[in-house]
Amino acid sequence: MKYASLKSIASYVPSRCVSNFDLEKMVDTSDEWITKRTGIKTRYFAESSEATSDLATKAGQEAIRRAGLKPSDIDMVIVATLSPDYIGMPSTACITSYNLGIENVPAFDITTACTGYIYLLSMAKAFIQTGEYQNILIIGAEKISSLLDFSDRTTCVLFGDGAGASVVSATENEGEAIVDVHISANGKYSDFLITPACGSKIPASAEALANHLQFIKMKGNETFKLAVKTLASDVEHILQKNSIAPSEVKYFIPHQANLRIISAVGEMLDFSSDQVVVTVDKYGNTSAASIPMAINSVYESGKLAKGDLLLLDAFGGGLTWGSALLRFGGDSL
Ligand code: UT7
Repeated sequence: MKYASLKSIASYVPSRCVSNFDLEKMVDTSDEWITKRTGIKTRYFAESSEATSDLATKAGQEAIRRAGLKPSDIDMVIVATLSPDYIGMPSTACITSYNLGIENVPAFDITTACTGYIYLLSMAKAFIQTGEYQNILIIGAEKISSLLDFSDRTTCVLFGDGAGASVVSATENEGEAIVDVHISANGKYSDFLITPACGSKIPASAEALANHLQFIKMKGNETFKLAVKTLASDVEHILQKNSIAPSEVKYFIPHQANLRIISAVGEMLDFSSDQVVVTVDKYGNTSAASIPMAINSVYESGKLAKGDLLLLDAFGGGLTWGSALLRFGGDSL
């Protein structure tokens, strides 16, 4: 039987660092409020000339290099994003593939918000196991600053831009395989996180733009409560199903939305602080890019080795959620 393996991890962080103090000058907020309620200190915004595909291309290029491959070895490209270059077409994956010199292979986007990378892993694993694909490039990429309303303090302080990418490859070695991935969704809560306008429901119009309906709206409190409950039960389920104790996990890498959510879930599941990876302080919430950027931070610190057991967990607009258990299949830095 062929397994799917996470062969590489890479990320791209845009150059413009925006601190809480910078935001204090733009909106009625404070470093104290943002730090206490979210744990975020800084986030990075792309330049106005950069599109999501530019961030995705940089992360993707490095992920291919770190997997020891060439662009021509990649036989599928999937991008998860809620901030695509274009609302309808072409997909960000098509543009990114072309930028990378990958042509004539399937390329498409998925819209699963902050759960993007978990959905990507699930899809890459399934495609690899058909036996028809060898090396799939998956990328979570966001220029979320293009969807932020800088007059709405309840959302604009939370998010950042960035991209994270991996190559998932076929392997015969179970010791470096993706063990299990669980994904789910419930549209009952679709209004918890929403960009109301510029789709078919409320097409772009002067009125929609004047009312800022093209930007992200979030029911923060309701989302927070559901996130803690869902994430904890999802992690418990995947560990139990695979007979793995929390102590066997090398790194628990949850979606980076809020330090209070990460700490609550980590404590409920008895993970030690050495196991829980936190990058939300530095990057804010980068949605589909948050988990691969967090894995990459461990990788670039030199602490991620082949065979290390990773547990990933995410929650986002849709609502969507999911978790993944995998043994890292790449070489250490
Ligand atoms: O990534 C996808 C999933 N997303 C999440 O999981 C996010 C989940 N939600 C959260 O992380 C939190 O709910 C937030 C960080 C968004 C908000 O924290 P909270 O503790 O739930 O605050 P709140 O919304 O209950 O607001 C408390 C107060 C309000 O003032 P009043 O009504 O008590 O006077 C807000 O107006 O804080 C006020 N507030 C702010 N004050 C200063 C809201 N945003 C800000 C701000 N600066 N930026």
